[in-house]
Amino acid sequence: MSLVLLTKRIEFAAAHRYTRMEWDEAKNRAVFGHCYNPPAHGHNYLLEVTVAGEIDPKTGMVVNLFDLKRVLLDMIEEFDHKNLNLDMPYFKDRIPTSENFAHVLWAKLATQQAIGTLHTLRLCEDEDLYAEVTAADGREIAAVTKRYTFNAVQGNHQGRDWDCFVTVRGRIDSMTGMVTDIGALDRLVQERIVNKFDRQDLCQVLGSDTVRGETLTKTIWDRLIEQPAGGTLHNVRLVSNRDLSFDYAG
Ligand code: NI
Repeated sequence: MSLVLLTKRIEFAAAHRYTRMEWDEAKNRAVFGHCYNPPAHGHNYLLEVTVAGEIDPKTGMVVNLFDLKRVLLDMIEEFDHKNLNLDMPYFKDRIPTSENFAHVLWAKLATQQAIGTLHTLRLCEDEDLYAEVTAADGREIAAVTKRYTFNAVQGNHQGRDWDCFVTVRGRIDSMTGMVTDIGALDRLVQERIVNKFDRQDLCQVLGSDTVRGETLTKTIWDRLIEQPAGGTLHNVRLVSNRDLSFDYAG
């Protein structure tokens, strides 16, 4: 067995709005924040589709890239430059969050024989937020990842930016369409990570002569693990620079 994963990316644009008709404006605003603002707002989505397969001894390929691209383009055409709330039957009774949208796209691709076995589908709203579904997930499970940034110094060294990707996985709430309350996650990370580390000396904050990326990643995990906003902390990725990153998943 020589299973190979292949990932193809494709971009498209769409608009959406988060609202529940049965809730009043105050509740909609409290739960959905800016995403409730009428009439809608747009995203340049980036879709990353990973397929898994054996290398075909005749072609040397896992999947025919031409077929994969055609299938993705055909699928995306239905959604590109549309208002997901108004134009799409998929979102009549569920909110077009990234989590729900990722499952809609997964269901469409899963029927396509030409692209082999779907492994992972990642839907990025922007550079800071993406949802992911995998073959192991049921129809109601997804992971959502948010990026946070802080700048910290270590002893006499110059300060530098760290990108911290926090992934929460769990059941998609049927009312909100979300795995976790992103506003609450933002507040949690702000309070326990960014406010503590940003423009601080990590050596002082963590009481250590040197702070390595490994330790910092685990420290961030430990500080977020009891997060209460829905879902379960799934992964913390700390990116030191383009060439170096750390992942910790408990
Ligand atoms: Ni949005």
